Amino acid sequence: MAEHNLQHIDLNDYPHINKGLDGIVAFSTTKSFINGQTGELIYSGYHIDTLADNATFEEVCFLLWNDRLPKNSELEELHKKLQSNRELPEPVLNYIKTTDKNAEPMAVVRSAVSMLADFVDSNSSDLDNAITMTAQIPTIIAAFDRARNEKEIVTPLKDGSTAFNFLYMLNGEEPGQAAERTMDLCLVLHAEHGMNASTFTCRSICSTESDMFSAVTGAIGALKGPLHGGANTAVMNTLLKLKEQGEHADPVVFTKDKLDRKEKIMGFGHRVYKTFDPRAYHLRKMSKDLAEETGHQYLYEWSEAMVKTMKDEKNIDPNVDFFSATVYYSIGIQPDLYTCIFAMSRISGWTAHFFEQKANNRLIRPRALYTGEKNLPWVPAEER
Ligand code: ACO
Repeated sequence: MAEHNLQHIDLNDYPHINKGLDGIVAFSTTKSFINGQTGELIYSGYHIDTLADNATFEEVCFLLWNDRLPKNSELEELHKKLQSNRELPEPVLNYIKTTDKNAEPMAVVRSAVSMLADFVDSNSSDLDNAITMTAQIPTIIAAFDRARNEKEIVTPLKDGSTAFNFLYMLNGEEPGQAAERTMDLCLVLHAEHGMNASTFTCRSICSTESDMFSAVTGAIGALKGPLHGGANTAVMNTLLKLKEQGEHADPVVFTKDKLDRKEKIMGFGHRVYKTFDPRAYHLRKMSKDLAEETGHQYLYEWSEAMVKTMKDEKNIDPNVDFFSATVYYSIGIQPDLYTCIFAMSRISGWTAHFFEQKANNRLIRPRALYTGEKNLPWVPAEER
């Protein structure tokens, strides 16, 4: 129905509710295209396979922010800006050092990003702020992980890629080329994905003419949930639960039992993809290769058995979160950090959508069908 026709309808009586806004197109975007039937994903003109084979995370950031790939000099400049912005303001670092060691890492990232707003120059542009958050989210994650494990916090490097520096800050030693490439590819694959729940949240906050830090803080809160980005941590916890069964562990029986109990299997299903998630092909290959290198073949074999069982039983395919879990596990990252790594990448997509929303804004304000009572008589408190 055309938008102008809706003006003449009393929406209080309008009977159709689109639960979950399934299939509703409320924005136009140049940031990404998804064909859920064929499993096609494009970021600003480039197929995800092309980017996975060629691009670095920093090139993807530039692409999403500018709708074109950077020239050498532009990429160099972006690297320099990211590198020189990695250190956290002292009060944010102090918060990370002193907060509860058992806090959820995603909650710490959310709170720390919110705090960053207090320390930026009031004249800084939205692009400056996008660069600040892209540069500092990895520092927040690594600093919290080291603080909670009572390890000395590692000062970020003033050179190297986002992926290299993150692994360096997390582990306290420089990563090898293969680990850097794995992390970089994960960042490329998670950077942007249309009108998912966190991006929608980001654009909704932007639409009120609020600031970018508020929009990203809200987006992190949305990503944290297990039906969205939190699924990668949940996948690993599921596999570790299966591992607890020792020699009796059987991924097929385990999966079927869960389905019988009407439980969701984390890392499977997608609102848009009705086929294999194109990002999952790359992650599946990485998961297989890393499992062989690190002696985690059993985890990879269990994952493949779960993929087959879900296909046979429910005709549901894995999404981006399924194989990313075992990739991160194989490079030694704690399961509760997986969603934080997602945020570290998706900051590029969120901020790109913020620019786009701001450039052509209209307040996001849908309606709700009221199903409660009307005009009840007032009853004084003592008579209720
Ligand atoms: N395990 C078991 N059954 C599933 C799963 C799953 N992972 N996903 C969907 N289904 C079933 C549902 O039970 C439902 O079956 P029914 O029709 O018999 O009731 C049917 O498939 C449709 O599922 P919905 O939940 O209605 O699909 P929706 O589009 O609303 O949800 C979602 C998509 C939330 C991603 C869902 O597939 C899910 O919960 N998956 C597990 C969590 C997950 O992996 N989330 C990450 C998604 S990717 C991302 O956000 C980065």
